Amino acid sequence: MAESEMIGGRPAAEPGDATGDATVAGMAGMAGVAGVAGSSRAAAAPRGASGPQLEGKVALVTGAASGIGHATAVRLHSAGARLALLDLDDAGGSAAESQLGGLFVHADVGQPADWARAVDRVVSELGRIDIVHLNAGVTTPEADLTAITDEQYRRICAANIDGVFFGARAVVPAMEAGGGGAIVVTASIAGLTAFSPDPVYTLTKHAVVTFVRALAPQLSSKNITINAICPGLVDTPLLGPDARELAAAANFPLIPVTDVAEAVYGRVIASETGQAFVCQVSREPTAYRFAGVPGPGGGAAGRTPPEGLAGEEERRRR
Ligand SMILES: NC(=O)c1ccc[n+]([C@@H]2O[C@H](COP(=O)([O-])OP(=O)(O)OC[C@H]3O[C@@H](n4cnc5c(N)ncnc54)[C@H](O)[C@@H]3O)[C@@H](O)[C@H]2O)c1
Repeated sequence: MAESEMIGGRPAAEPGDATGDATVAGMAGMAGVAGVAGSSRAAAAPRGASGPQLEGKVALVTGAASGIGHATAVRLHSAGARLALLDLDDAGGSAAESQLGGLFVHADVGQPADWARAVDRVVSELGRIDIVHLNAGVTTPEADLTAITDEQYRRICAANIDGVFFGARAVVPAMEAGGGGAIVVTASIAGLTAFSPDPVYTLTKHAVVTFVRALAPQLSSKNITINAICPGLVDTPLLGPDARELAAAANFPLIPVTDVAEAVYGRVIASETGQAFVCQVSREPTAYRFAGVPGPGGGAAGRTPPEGLAGEEERRRR
């Protein structure tokens, strides 16, 4: 794979310290979609694997040709969902389509026109969209701020940020028309910590974690959950040889890609929304608890902004 798609030199920052105190403070209390595999390419799990079934549901996965997206497609397929597989990689996307059925759509997630075309095609050929995994993403090959080119910066923002915004905007009307569903965004531990080996990657992942949290209340009214998953180092082609070597030398375990797929599936069938779930080796996905921010002081101490101007922490403090 291209060097620009690899996590560069060093392992992720202190994953064991990233979770804070766990809480599963669900905000919306709705049904998700419940009513309704160690290598970069997971083998197709047998149909009828354990857990609630997704027969009759359509799942759209971006970055489905490789790694976490492919493993998630396998997991959702095993639960009975029909798949829309979006990727830039035609060979990998077509291979996934041959393996899992459904529909491969060539799409650049950073391009709004590609989203319009993809959603139209999925709805016309598969009939609906219930589950969406906004997962496609890249890293920069460069940690040095002054060496990052405009093109490298635009490329990572397009895939990691635009891909989530344009994706969510494009799929929500179709999901709402079908009665609701679940969106899961692949962020990263780098969306919760300051991952110095790739500051621009860190910027993009923090952006989508906070977007998910801010968007959740308005999607609740449409019966759509949205959550982020925040994995540490996952065993996929995104991890370059340098990162792998450093992890191995430190005896630091990589997360099997099937564990991350299981975490995505867990979000699809659960009712929580607006949460960022930390995924680490040998740990149940854990909702990260964000610290509160200080409010006004002086004579205004204790006051909170009015409902229409309050952030999530402030709303929870009421
Ligand atoms: N591997 C890790 O250690 C790790 C850790 C935390 C988060 N993540 C995140 O997981 C997600 C998936 O990464 P992965 O590890 O499976 O990597 P991967 O390289 O194996 O797969 C990424 C897929 O996304 C596709 N893609 C990239 N840009 C695209 C675009 N603009 N439009 C459409 N498709 C595009 C690629 O072709 C590829 O098939 C990314 O968002 C990544 O940031 C990865």
